[in-house]
Amino acid sequence: MTSACPGRQPVRWLFVAGLATLLFIALAASAGAEGAPAQDGDNSTCLGCHSQPGLSVELASGEVLPLTVDPNVYHSSVHANLTCTSCHTNIDGYPHPKLTAGDRRSFQMERYQQCKNCHPDQYTESLDSTHARELAAGNRNAAICTDCHGSHDITDPDNPRQKISQTCAKCHSAINEQFVHSVHGEALENGNPDVPTCTDCHGAHTQEDPRTAAFRLKSPNICGECHANAALMEKYGISVDVFNTYVADFHGTTVTLFERQHPDQPTNKAVCTDCHGTHNILAVTDENATVVKENLLATCRRCHPDATADFPSSWVGHFPPSRTNQPLVYYVNLFYKILIPAVIGGMVLFVGLDAGARILRRIRRKGA
Ligand code: HEC
Ligand code: HEC
Ligand code: HEC
Ligand code: HEC
Ligand code: HEC
Ligand code: HEC
Ligand code: HEC
Ligand code: HEC
Ligand code: HEC
Repeated sequence: MTSACPGRQPVRWLFVAGLATLLFIALAASAGAEGAPAQDGDNSTCLGCHSQPGLSVELASGEVLPLTVDPNVYHSSVHANLTCTSCHTNIDGYPHPKLTAGDRRSFQMERYQQCKNCHPDQYTESLDSTHARELAAGNRNAAICTDCHGSHDITDPDNPRQKISQTCAKCHSAINEQFVHSVHGEALENGNPDVPTCTDCHGAHTQEDPRTAAFRLKSPNICGECHANAALMEKYGISVDVFNTYVADFHGTTVTLFERQHPDQPTNKAVCTDCHGTHNILAVTDENATVVKENLLATCRRCHPDATADFPSSWVGHFPPSRTNQPLVYYVNLFYKILIPAVIGGMVLFVGLDAGARILRRIRRKGA
């Protein structure tokens, strides 16, 4: 085609040059029209090009890296007052240094390193997390700062609080799906500030592997943070005895002792989550709850495979026996509470009276 009409080549170049000039004017105008606030002065050069829609670059991997930054989003982020170059420390005008990252993930992994310059505490905290360990072991899908927070669109990470589990759900969607239907998750969705979300049990930057023996042993204490708090539980009419009775019962006593003596060894005794579930905990009256009467035997049988239908009643539950809860146990206890003092007291009285009578008799005999 082009070889057929060589005379039009210079015309085409003229056309391209004209277009380029127009584009340049448009860019300059849009940068000026930005009406950039004083502190944004440095950013208008960068945004002059990077606010243009459709700007992108192809990486060595063949992936396309979009290069458009929405100024409105940026200006409503927590970093609105920062210059672009406070994070893009390697860039200073155009042309830019040659791109070193071969694919999108590598680019993100290079860029997020800048966060630590201004947030050293969160960075240091996260070094010990299971995510950091997974990254070090070569799992590039494990979470880095920007996966949870974003880059140009960072907003307050725990406001509203429901946002947190959605952040984790980007990669742990199956767990979040269970969680939102749990007694805790449902209350959270309704704006209840007293129920736990992912980071109350796992931390925001410090997640440890929750499948270790040590985590299992200390897990009842996570529940105890709230379920042993009388003022908090009173609001919901939930007994705080659940924690004390657990620690006092044979499962809890052995787990508590075990934790002290062998913090790293697995325990086969029941912890809270064995009976109630973890991310799927339901109200104890819910017909699908693992602890509701109809399902309780199956729950016990996971560890007591030979348990018979009346086995669950061998466990007095979380509640001290009362006239209504386990009345037989209650009355037997009560009976002993009266009988034992009565018998011992009677004995003491009898022995005392008898001794007194003997002494009196002896004195009388001497006097005679
Ligand atoms: C004249 C237009 C223009 C200006 C001004 C400009 N850029 Fe770019 N930028 C580009 C283009 C085109 C690319 C694609 C890769 C390349 O050409 O280097 C790019 C790539 C990038 C990238 C991704 C690749 C990399 O090198 O990291 C970042 C980040 C970036 N620019 C930030 C900035 C910042 C920050 C500023 C202001 C200091 C800025 N740019 C100014 C046009 C521009
Ligand atoms: C708080 C730090 C921070 C600031 C401030 C910041 N950036 Fe970025 N930027 C990043 C990170 C981190 C990435 C890597 C991409 C990712 O993780 O999503 C990135 C990526 C980019 C890219 C590549 C395309 C993309 O979105 O991935 C461009 C272009 C860019 N930034 C331009 C800018 C411009 C222009 C400004 C100023 C208006 C700016 N950045 C301010 C942290 C920042
Ligand atoms: C040049 C310094 C600087 C860099 C680099 C930086 N930040 Fe910030 N960041 C700030 C400042 C300043 C604030 C505002 C602090 C405030 O309002 O208390 C902030 C606020 C935040 C907040 C909100 C804190 C809150 O309490 O609501 C988050 C989250 C955050 N940054 C994450 C990041 C991430 C992720 C990166 C890397 C992509 C990053 N920051 C890079 C300076 C920086
Ligand atoms: C796994 C997700 C995740 C990762 C990875 C992550 N954060 Fe956070 N970050 C959060 C959540 C959620 C909060 C909200 C506070 C909370 O729930 O305790 C938060 C809070 C913050 C805050 C506000 C102050 C605070 O400590 O509460 C800053 C600043 C911050 N993160 C910076 C960072 C930086 C820098 C990195 C990378 C070194 C990082 N975060 C990595 C999820 C994450
Ligand atoms: C960018 C994806 C991503 C995000 C976002 C993320 N995680 Fe992870 N997380 C991973 C990967 C990958 C692993 C490694 C194990 C695996 O593949 O499941 C992991 C592991 C974990 C583990 C250890 C259990 C295990 O399987 O090794 C916990 C606990 C955890 N994440 C909690 C959280 C919490 C809480 C949040 C939100 C504050 C969160 N994660 C956000 C990707 C993510
Ligand atoms: C009430 C405390 C609690 C809350 C809330 C909670 N977790 Fe967990 N999580 C645990 C415990 C305890 C374990 C370990 C025992 C188990 O797996 O049953 C665990 C295990 C995990 C694991 C690793 C094992 C697995 O099942 O894959 C991941 C990943 C995880 N949680 C992520 C999350 C995320 C994401 C959220 C929020 C949607 C969340 N957790 C909310 C207590 C909690
Ligand atoms: C051996 C199984 C088992 C273990 C271990 C266990 N629970 Fe329970 N839990 C139950 C059963 C069964 C119920 C139903 C009520 C009852 O009769 O005790 C219940 C009821 C509850 C209730 C509702 C109380 C109310 O007032 O309605 C809460 C809250 C609770 N448990 C929390 C915990 C916590 C926290 C732990 C660990 C410290 C724990 N449970 C350990 C089986 C268990
Ligand atoms: C951050 C505080 C907090 C933590 C941690 C917590 N819970 Fe809860 N839990 C609550 C609150 C508040 C409710 C009441 C929610 C409602 O009724 O809307 C509740 C409700 C429950 C219920 C339903 C009680 C009923 O009346 O039916 C059970 C069962 C339960 N939690 C078990 C657990 C277990 C097991 C753990 C540990 C793995 C745990 N919780 C950790 C605050 C907490
Ligand atoms: C996660 C496993 C697990 C679950 C679930 C569990 N138990 Fe246990 N239970 C044990 C272990 C292990 C022992 C032995 C404790 C010891 O030797 O100190 C035990 C001991 C007992 C004992 C003491 C008598 C005996 O056989 O040694 C009773 C009673 C008991 N469990 C009842 C229950 C009831 C009722 C349930 C269901 C509500 C239940 N358990 C659920 C693991 C479990």
